[in-house]
Parts: sequence; structure tokens; C-alpha cells
Amino acid sequence: MTQIKNICCIGAGYVGGPTMAVIAQKCPEINVTVVDLNEQRIADWNDDDLDKLPIYEPGLKEVVAEARGRNLFFSTDVDKAIDNAEMIFISVNTPTKTYGKGKGMAADLKYIELCARQIARVSKTDKIVIEKSTLPVRTAEALRSILDNTSSGVKFQILSSPEFLAEGTAVDDLQNADRVLIGGDQTPEGLEAMQALTDIYAHWLPKERILQTNVWSSELSKLTANAFLAQRVSSINSLSALCEKTEANIEEVSRAIGADSRIGSKFLKSSVGFGGSCFQKDILNLVYICQSLGLKEVADYWEQVIIMNDYQKHRFADNIIKTLYNTVSGKKIAFLGWAFKKDTNDTRETAAMYVADILMEDRATIVVYDPKVKYEQMFADVDYLNTRTEKENKELLKPQTDPYEACKDVHAIAILTEWDEFKGYDWQKIYDHMMKPAFVFDGRNVLDGEKLEKIGFKYYGIGK
Ligand code: UDX
Ligand code: ADP
Repeated sequence: MTQIKNICCIGAGYVGGPTMAVIAQKCPEINVTVVDLNEQRIADWNDDDLDKLPIYEPGLKEVVAEARGRNLFFSTDVDKAIDNAEMIFISVNTPTKTYGKGKGMAADLKYIELCARQIARVSKTDKIVIEKSTLPVRTAEALRSILDNTSSGVKFQILSSPEFLAEGTAVDDLQNADRVLIGGDQTPEGLEAMQALTDIYAHWLPKERILQTNVWSSELSKLTANAFLAQRVSSINSLSALCEKTEANIEEVSRAIGADSRIGSKFLKSSVGFGGSCFQKDILNLVYICQSLGLKEVADYWEQVIIMNDYQKHRFADNIIKTLYNTVSGKKIAFLGWAFKKDTNDTRETAAMYVADILMEDRATIVVYDPKVKYEQMFADVDYLNTRTEKENKELLKPQTDPYEACKDVHAIAILTEWDEFKGYDWQKIYDHMMKPAFVFDGRNVLDGEKLEKIGFKYYGIGK
């Protein structure tokens, strides 16, 4: 039986960082080393000031404080960590391809491939290699092919163990996971490798929550679990448009639908649109796989989830423009929130950047306040969309560290992230210092519309 004493994780991002921190916390007898090519990221993980960790997640700094230096290490020496480990997790990013075949849809596997080649080159002893990133179905096969054909006689077992943590609740999701999926070969060596990983999770999770499957089922389950969740958000968002045209209220509709125990209440919160690193990417991936296999109707079915989401972001921005008398040119609009959801500093695919982009195309100035997102990240996001020059973006996007300052003298306020602190603001004070009529566009339905209307605001929620 493989005895695991050293784990290496390649990629110190939103997945690798929190996952390894929790494994190290729960398995004090195992050394866990997280490596990354990005020196700054590793330096931040090693910073004595735990508020400087590169990733913000509630509860993460406590876990890091407990394990770091004891059996949790962060390093840029990738080769050494690979060589030392019996088990290697790959959690590098797999963004949507921005070039060539599958552009805009397929996952770019170049980082995974680079990792595989590096593992093959460095390894002197047998290893279990686990794909942790969200990957298109059959990636493990590519991984296996590279490892088996480029290494010198070392044996690798490839497992798929996709991550189900959601950002903002990552630590809790890891510590109290509904399920952990472990996919592996149904051979004696494959089963042994699956057992080794099962034993790690069994340090803190009941056995019945650790599901063993074949590799392909594990990969596909992850992709489609996200597609189902995103589909619910797009479904409720499609109804929000209908509610706005009728007397129905989306929150009442959502409550009524969710009260059906067969449907359940989660992921029925209407919003300006879903964001994050997974939903869009995974669905595009699924669509691409279906198209490649000639399953056009299946591809179109899932693609509609993305189309709905794009529509929702446009609808929100268009409503702001229409309400502000069909022009936002030269006007200031405050954005409260930039992250793709609360309790994270991640902005990948955040609705905020798309809405800002549309308004900036209409020459509005966007003043942004977000409690956790850095200024540079906001600029990087709008620059990434490539609609305007960096210089133009600098002129139109104005980050602010103080929410009251951000809302001063603006023509409208838009809520893009559901940060709890927004509810507790002194809205009377905000009202007193902004242009009239004072418009609030609540893209997350977090504020009390009635209360704001009493103060004098013109309040627009989603689907209300
Ligand atoms: C998701 C999956 O939940 C997780 O299991 C997977 O491993 C990674 O992808 P994450 O992207 O971190 O996690 O966030 P999630 O909480 O799923 O939210 C995704 C987006 O949907 C956010 O922008 C969120 O604001 C939005 N959302 C979610 C809604 O608009 N309404 C809802 O009811 C729920
Ligand atoms: P995720 O949300 O999937 O964790 P992130 O982008 O937050 O994605 O993290 C992925 C990390 O993987 C990045 O910090 C990146 O620098 C790192 N990475 C990518 N390729 C390699 C590689 N070949 N070796 C080491 N680290 C890598």
C-alpha cells in the first residue's frame, strides 16, 4: 500500500491554495508543499502578515496560521517538490482558449501539458498524479499519454478529483464537503491509488461522502454539476425579465418555486448575471465537446445558458442608460462591488466588468468601490476586454477606497456584488450627497428597496 508522506501541489491559486491548506490542517503527519511559477504569489502566501495572503477567503488565514511552517509550505522550487512527493496535485489554471482551434470555447490545456512534461522529466520514483483543475472530459488520457511516453520507466497513476469548492465559502466547503469525487482506473494499481487519496480525505470526512468512479465519470460530473447550477441561475434570470414586464415579483416567484422540495431553494437568486472562473468556462467546454461529437441539439441547449447570462448583463446596463434619459455620456456612476460574488477578491468573468464596459462605451465615468478587489485588478479586467485603450480606461474607470466618496456627486449607484456591508451603510447620507433624482440599480437585490424609496431614491431591483 502506498504510504503518502509528501504531497506536492502545482498551482497556488484559488483551488490549490485553500485545498492544500485544509489537507495540511487535517493531516498533520503529511508534508504538503504548494508550488507556483509566480514568485510574487508564493511570497504573498509566505507573508508574515496573514492579511496579505493572495487569496481572500473567510477562515483561510486561520487555517494557514495553524499549518504553515509545520507541514504546509509554499515554494517556487517546483522540481524539488515534485521529486520529493508520492502524490502530486495539478491545480493550474485552464482558461478558455483565446486562439486557434476551439477559440473562445475549448479549455486551454497548455499549462496542464507543461506540468505533465515537468513531472515526467523530474520524477525518479512512482507517483500518483491527481488532476484537480476543472478539465474537459478525457484530459486524464492526454496526461497519461505524456507521462507514460516521456518518463524513464517511472510508473504514474492518474486520478481525477475535481474540486467542488465555491469561492467565498471555500474553507467550509472543503472541511464539510457534500461529496468528494475520486476517479481512477479500475485496475489493481488504480484502485490502490484511489484508496491512498480516499485515506487522506477520510481524515475528516465520513467514508460515504467519498465517491469512487471511473476517471471519465469524475471529469464529466464536475463539468455538468456546474452547468446545472448555472442553468438554474439563467432560468431564474430569464423569469426576472418577464417579471419586470408584468406585476410579478421575482423574489416571490423564486420563493414559491424554491419551496417545492423537489426543486429546492438554492441557486434561485436572480442577479445581474453569474460570473466566476467555472460556470462560463465549463459550459463552453461542454458545448464544445458536444459539437465535436456531432451532438448539435445538446450543444445548443447548453449554449443557451450562456446566451441568457450575456443577455442579463446587457439588460442591466441598457436599463441604466435608458433610465438616465438615454445618455450616460459625461455622467458619473458609482459601482458598489466588483468581485463576481461576495467574500472573494476574485473577479474572473465578473458581471461588473462587462456592465462597466458597456457604460464606458457610452462615455460614462465609473467610480468603483469593492472591499477586497485591488485597483490594478479592476484596470486589468477592463483592459482585458480590449474595447478601449488602457489610457481611455484610466480616464473612465475611477477606483475608490471609501464607499461614501465613491457615491458622492454621482448620477446613479449600481450594486454589482452582494457584499453584506452595503446593507449597513448610512443611505440617507449617501442620498444627501448625490445628484437628483437619485437612482439605485440593485443588480443583486441586496438592498431594502422600500426603505430607499422612503428616503427619496428611485430604486430598481432585478425582476421587480
Ligand atoms: C462554482 C461552483 O458552485 C463550485 O461547486 C465549483 O467548484 C466552482 O464553480 P463559484 O464559481 O466559486 O463556484 O461560485 P458560485 O457560488 O457557484 O456562484 C457562481 C456565480 O453565480 C456567482 O457570480 C454568483 O453570484 C452567481 N449566482 C449564484 C447567482 O447569480 N444566483 C444564485 O442563486 C447563485
Ligand atoms: P484556479 O482558480 O484554478 O486555482 P488560479 O489562476 O488562481 O486558478 O491558479 C493557478 C495557478 O497555477 C497560478 O498561480 C499559476 O501561476 C500557476 N501555474 C500555472 N502553470 C504552472 C506551472 N507549469 N507550474 C507551476 N505553477 C503554474
